[in-house]
Amino acid sequence: RPRVLSGIQPTAGSFHLGNYLGAVRQWVALQESHDAFYMVVDLHAITVPQDPADLRANTRLAAAQLLAAGLDPDRCTLFVQSHVPEHAQLAWVMNCLTGFGEASRMTQFKDKAAKQGADRASVGLFTYPILQVADILLYQANEVPVGEDQRQHVELTRDLAERFNGRFGATFTVPKPYILKETAKIYDLQDPAIKMSKSASTPKGLINLLDEPKATAKKVKSAVTDTDTVIRYDAEHKPGVSNLLTIYSTLTGRTIAELEQEYEGKMYGALKTDLADVMVDFVTPFRERTQQYLDDSETLDSILAKGAEKARAVAAETLSQAYERVGFLPAK
Ligand code: TYM
Repeated sequence: RPRVLSGIQPTAGSFHLGNYLGAVRQWVALQESHDAFYMVVDLHAITVPQDPADLRANTRLAAAQLLAAGLDPDRCTLFVQSHVPEHAQLAWVMNCLTGFGEASRMTQFKDKAAKQGADRASVGLFTYPILQVADILLYQANEVPVGEDQRQHVELTRDLAERFNGRFGATFTVPKPYILKETAKIYDLQDPAIKMSKSASTPKGLINLLDEPKATAKKVKSAVTDTDTVIRYDAEHKPGVSNLLTIYSTLTGRTIAELEQEYEGKMYGALKTDLADVMVDFVTPFRERTQQYLDDSETLDSILAKGAEKARAVAAETLSQAYERVGFLPAK
C-alpha cells in the first residue's frame, strides 16, 4: 500500500470547515486505500506563543475531533508529533541542508512574520516548514493530503529529499502533494476573496465545527453572495455562491451540476437555508462524537500511545539511516 502522511495544528481548539473539507475528509477516505499516518502537530504549535494548559487540552481536543471525523485507529496511525522525538532530530539535519534564502521565500512564514513583527516572530516560525519536511520524510510518504496553502511546503519537501538523496545516496521517498481541486481552498463566508482561516477570517465568516449548530446555521444564512440572482458555479465572477455550492456538494455527495439544476430559478435564500440544514446535520453528530472521545480520556490517551509506538518504529528506522548517511558516528 502506498503511504500517506499529514498533520494538523492543535492551536485553535475547534477545527474549521476549511480544515475538514480541505484535508481531514481526505484523510478519512485515504485510510481505506493507503498506509496512513496522521498527527497532531504540537511542535509546530509552539512556533507562536502558547499557554501550556491550553496546548495540552487542545492537543487532546484535536485528536478527539479527528476520531469524530472518522479516523479509525485500526485503519490508520494517529499520534501526537512530540511523542515521536525523531521529528525534531531529523528537522535539525534538514535545517542544515536548507538555504537561508530558500527558507525566507516561504510565503506562509512571510505572512505570519509580517503580522507579528520581525522581533517577535520566533526562529521556530522561520524553520517551521523544515520541521514539516522532516515530518513527511521520516515516514517515506508517497503522498501528502493537504489544502492548497500547504503546497509550497510539500514542494520544499521534494526539493530537500532530492538534495539529500543526491548528496548522500537514495534515502528518502520524494512525496507528492495530494490536493483535491474542488476543496483545495474553502473561502471565508463573509469575504470569498480570502481563504477561511482562524487568523484572517472575521467570526461571521468562519465556520467552527464545534460551535453551536444554531450559530453555524445563522452564519450560513448570512453568507455574502453577489448582486446577481442566478445560482451557478463561477469561481471568478461568483465566488461567494461558488463557495457555497462547493461546500454543499462536498457535504452531500451531490454534484454541482445537480445542485445548479435543482436551484434553477430559485433565490439565494433558498440555497442558504438548505445548506444551513445540511451543515447542522453535519456538525451536530460531529460535536457529540468529539465530546464522547473527550469524556473518555483514558481511551483517547491509549489510542495516542499506540499510535506513537507505531509511528516511532517507522521514524526511528528512517532517522538512523539518515544519521548514518550524513556521517554521524554510531553510538556503541
Ligand atoms: P493547518 O493546521 O493550518 O491546517 C490543517 C489542514 O487544513 C487545510 N486548510 C484548508 N484547506 C482548504 N481550505 C481552507 N480554507 C483551509 N484552511 C486550512 C490545510 O491546508 C491543512 O492541510 N503546516 C500544516 C501542518 C503540518 C503538516 C505536516 C501537514 C505539519 N506537518 C506534515 C502535512 C504534512 C498546517 O499548519 O496545517
